[in-house]
Amino acid sequence: MPAEPRPLPRTAALEVATGQPGQPGAPDGAAGLFARQYGEEPRAAWHAPGRVNLIGEHTDYNDGFVLPFAIGAGVTVAAARRDDGELVLASRQADGADARIALGGLAPGAVTGWAAYPAGVAWALQEAGYQFGGASVAVDSDLALGAGLSSSAALECAVALALTELYGLSVPRPQLAAIARRAENDFVGAPTGIMDQSAALLCQAGHALLLDCRSGIGTAVPLDPGAVGLSLLVIDTRARHAHVDGGYAARRQACEEAAAALGVRSLRDITDSSELAGLDPVLRRRARHVVTENSRVLATATLLREGELARTGPLLTASHASLRDDFEVSWPEANATVEAAIEAGACGARMTGGGFGGSVVALVPAESELRVRAAVAARFAREGWTEPVCTVVAPSAGARRVR
Ligand code: GLA
Repeated sequence: MPAEPRPLPRTAALEVATGQPGQPGAPDGAAGLFARQYGEEPRAAWHAPGRVNLIGEHTDYNDGFVLPFAIGAGVTVAAARRDDGELVLASRQADGADARIALGGLAPGAVTGWAAYPAGVAWALQEAGYQFGGASVAVDSDLALGAGLSSSAALECAVALALTELYGLSVPRPQLAAIARRAENDFVGAPTGIMDQSAALLCQAGHALLLDCRSGIGTAVPLDPGAVGLSLLVIDTRARHAHVDGGYAARRQACEEAAAALGVRSLRDITDSSELAGLDPVLRRRARHVVTENSRVLATATLLREGELARTGPLLTASHASLRDDFEVSWPEANATVEAAIEAGACGARMTGGGFGGSVVALVPAESELRVRAAVAARFAREGWTEPVCTVVAPSAGARRVR
């Protein structure tokens, strides 16, 4: 990914990872920075969460199904209007790397570094025909960067809410998600799907979001692990791989090639892996992941609706195996985490996010949580890897005004 705001020191970022805006590390940080930076109080502050994808990986750009949920940690922006037509940006995670951008001259490539995400949102709003003036913006984040929890989408979505609400623009949330995605795709230049921005803007507390990425229809599906004696544990493997961008784009291209070879608009149109027989072996494995993952997402959503969360475990683990063996976007620390978690009693576990580094999500009986954490830590110690960071997450609310 292109440069993003520098993270808080790791402990600070993770201590508040399940917290709510208003607690140390995030929210007053944005308002406090605003006051110091601009010498006045912000008009308001908005928070957009990070996300964990429960299941449905690399399906969004294939018009398929995803099932993410929002977490407590995220990005908060404090903002006020300004009348000089400029977007002025400061971030607690990018000391001194402030930016001042004329809204009149925005074009892809004109802004680089972390400021490209907010500037891209302004550009995409303009491209969608919305008119608005300048803004002073202060940013704070308690999301670990590179952990696969969508810090860039959270930044985009918090800024999108700030600009639209400051100027009284009424933009339906699905459209705002598309605008934030456009910022990332066409302004920043990362060829991602619609999942992360949709999760940040559309998720509800106590629910996952079943999103049909072809129709754009999102449905809230109950996800309340605590109510049934389970925990969702996010394990940041601390592995950050340099070739993320190239690997993601290559997988996306392989999927497009497979769809073209099969004569369908996208891999969403294939529901049975036997239809993939004629593809060359690599494309066949890539496509098989997408086809089987879509059916795992739908099966998981059905179980959630039936109140059978524990029974989703094997689907999560099967998703991981498919990402490891067919799609080949997993990494050694994630594979070891999944193995150790299952051996220690997890119902299921899988890598979450685009892959090549980041986090694993494990569904764990509450009474096995300590055992799973210890087993994963012991495995990392044996391998000589940096200690992983485990956080229990709760399905949380989507983006909102917080001040
Ligand atoms: C990244 C992208 C998403 C999605 C996932 C993989 O998070 O931003 O659009 O493609 O990878 O599921």
